[in-house]
Amino acid sequence: MVDSTEAATAAGRVRISDDREVATYLEIAEAREPGRTLNPAPNAPEAVVVIDYGSQYSMLIARRVREAGVYSELVAWDAPASALNHLRVKAFVLSGGPASVCDPGAPTLPPYVLSAGLPVLGICYGMQLLAHALGGRVAPSTQREYGHAIVNISEPSNPLLSELPVAMPVWMSHGDRVVELPPGFRSIAQSDNSPVAAMADDAGRLGIQFHPEVVHTPQGSRLLRNFLFAVAHCNGQWTATAFVKESIETIRRQVGTGRVICALSGGVDSAVAAALVHRAVGDQLTCIFVDNGLLRAEEPERVVRTFREHMSINLRHVDAGDRFLSQLAEVTNPETKRMRIGETFIRVFEQEAAQLGEVNFICQGTTYPDVIESAGSGSGAAAKIKTHHNVGGLPKDMKLSLIEPLRNLFKDEVRRAGKELGLPDEMVYRQPFPGPGLAIRVMGAVTREKLAILRAADWVVMDEVKKAAMYYDLWQSFAVLTDTRTVGVQGDFRTYGYCVALRCVTAEDAMTADWARLPYDLLAQISSRIVNEVPEVNRVVYDITSKPPGTIEWE
Ligand code: XMP
Repeated sequence: MVDSTEAATAAGRVRISDDREVATYLEIAEAREPGRTLNPAPNAPEAVVVIDYGSQYSMLIARRVREAGVYSELVAWDAPASALNHLRVKAFVLSGGPASVCDPGAPTLPPYVLSAGLPVLGICYGMQLLAHALGGRVAPSTQREYGHAIVNISEPSNPLLSELPVAMPVWMSHGDRVVELPPGFRSIAQSDNSPVAAMADDAGRLGIQFHPEVVHTPQGSRLLRNFLFAVAHCNGQWTATAFVKESIETIRRQVGTGRVICALSGGVDSAVAAALVHRAVGDQLTCIFVDNGLLRAEEPERVVRTFREHMSINLRHVDAGDRFLSQLAEVTNPETKRMRIGETFIRVFEQEAAQLGEVNFICQGTTYPDVIESAGSGSGAAAKIKTHHNVGGLPKDMKLSLIEPLRNLFKDEVRRAGKELGLPDEMVYRQPFPGPGLAIRVMGAVTREKLAILRAADWVVMDEVKKAAMYYDLWQSFAVLTDTRTVGVQGDFRTYGYCVALRCVTAEDAMTADWARLPYDLLAQISSRIVNEVPEVNRVVYDITSKPPGTIEWE
């Protein structure tokens, strides 16, 4: 008897060489994790599950799958099978990851993946893991393969490789490689350094050593589509329209005759969340716009105008600026700022709710990246970077139940849903603005004076970026008030003023970002206007850090 298949195959004591021995693998897996079978709820939506081994691209795989019209979720490799019960799984994708299957304690294959008998696509570490678990052999490569490579397809008739060029450019990033195929598998593509650049068996279990999810693999989306439709036979009906329809039904079921309040910030996420809930339960929804005193210039007026006047949504405007500022007094730690803001936010809601009579739910525009970045996926692989206050700042004794209709959506999907709901472009394509607002763009303690300085500088940035017709090309563009003062000269006088940093980034989602290559003339115009129009500022610098290693916000 062996302790685990991984240990057994690594030690060479169990060779899985035919169906009988695969059954042995499953018996061992059952002993390790009883109840490993999938048990989908009735009417669960079709989904392809990406098992997360900690690759920086895991999230991207899920995005690409959804772009192909198939709903996808990321699941931590050590999550129990029951974590998938809300889905009707059609196939699994095993992500890449930093570990080596040769290492003791390396992340393993969840038993339900093989026992489900569904198609599996292992990517990089995922392929190595599949090979290892099924009795193949993985070993460190003498030559690390990183960057562009060409794979030569030797089995073009394989459905995974259908209509792909025989010599296909791909992106590789691996140290280990498969040196011996598992029984029943064959190599279907090779590269200079990988005799097994892709492998397949006849049961829809596939592996690829390269990364189809990144743009550097030009035919990557085609390959993923092949997997989804030619191998896994997905129906591909995940669209914004379907999402909106399903969400409305779910919200109606969840809310019943209850009353909902919605945390409206003016940003696209909460706007779409509110519009969805409004479509589902109409006047049972009251939106509460908490003016936390941390918004950009003219924002509060704009929010009230849009929602109350144009969308006819019940809206209460709460001016809570003083309360937030007193909670932030002398707070310099970014995480403490976030927690205080999150808590105050919820408390204000609870007070408003008390005035509305019985209220049962609070709706928030939390999106998938918020959840993952706050390490909410449960994957031990994802480090916590910041507490996004939608997720992490909720007090434990909160009395309202949460509705988060966008919790599983990426930003572009939120926008598509917004369009579907008929929201105006000006709102749907608005640049993101963080829940904690300007508090995380004022370095150090937040004061009224500093907020006013930042607002004035930020106004210039927004105005100039819009005039240059770059607003919609940039993911975000804003000013940061640093805690540094520097010496300058204006007229004949020495000045000692604040240094403002300009932060403009491009991104596909906020998981990664690059600093925007703004034209020098635009930079010059922004800088000159800020130092001329904001007397407290005498220096402007441009932040040229990508994410990673930086983050988009400074705190
Ligand atoms: P970072 O700074 O983590 O930001 O690179 C990624 C994206 O998230 C926004 N952001 C937040 N949004 N609550 C939010 O709703 C928050 O606490 C928060 N912190 C950052 C940020 O503006 C960027 O778009």
